[in-house]
Amino acid sequence: MLNPSNPIGVMDTGVGGLTVVKELQRILPGEDIFYFGDSANCPYGNKPEDEIFRLSSNMIQFLQDNGSKCTAIACNTISTMAEKLRPCFNHRIISIVEEAAKYVIREGIESTGLIATEFTVKSGKYAELVHVGNPNCKVIGKGSHNLAALVDRGDFNQHDINEEIRSNVDVILAQEPVKNLILGCTHYPIVESNFHECYPDMHIINPALEQANAVKAYLTEQNALNPQKKGTFTICTSGDPQVYVNVGKRLGLFEASELKVVHI
Ligand code: DGL
Repeated sequence: MLNPSNPIGVMDTGVGGLTVVKELQRILPGEDIFYFGDSANCPYGNKPEDEIFRLSSNMIQFLQDNGSKCTAIACNTISTMAEKLRPCFNHRIISIVEEAAKYVIREGIESTGLIATEFTVKSGKYAELVHVGNPNCKVIGKGSHNLAALVDRGDFNQHDINEEIRSNVDVILAQEPVKNLILGCTHYPIVESNFHECYPDMHIINPALEQANAVKAYLTEQNALNPQKKGTFTICTSGDPQVYVNVGKRLGLFEASELKVVHI
């Protein structure tokens, strides 16, 4: 039996997972949220698989040790390894990639661009999961080497961000004139307005709400929703906490009850 008063764990390589926190706070305002962002090691998306696995396992262990009743892997890069990570832990782990793929299937989308980290695109996980429900759906991916790190830096240099977006999305469009674009890295919805500015007619898919809905469905099924009115929000990071304050404001999050630097 899950304890309803325990927190929901949310993890990311940095500030990106705050886009999932935004949706969780909106649909589950009574829940305590316990966040870990590994900004000291961000970006993960250009690292080798064994290193990502080791760093991610440490993060999930830290959330489990802090009582997570379930953990949302808000990071797409880490979520591509969800099946390998799950057997190492004794609480429910919810992958953002799995939830995004279900959305694409449910909406009957026939072709979509995918901008994500190089690791996520190379893993082929999005196409694999989408093809389970819609074998004909075209998923055209392009890995960005720099966008997550540019966002995690927190200074929002508009020129650099737009350049990085255009240079990647144009490669997708040269292959297929897609009308949908999955933001397959949780850092990217923080600069969603830049995507709209660069591609005003594109339907931008932000998987954060899908993952938050999956967390809600799981806790409802387990009878483990926290009955309190307003939850606490604890942020732990291995990096610069000020970036979390700035991004939290930018996204309109409830202010963190606690913000601390933790090395795990
Ligand atoms: N935010 C992470 C994701 O969703 C990746 C950023 C990184 O490369 O660390 O994939």
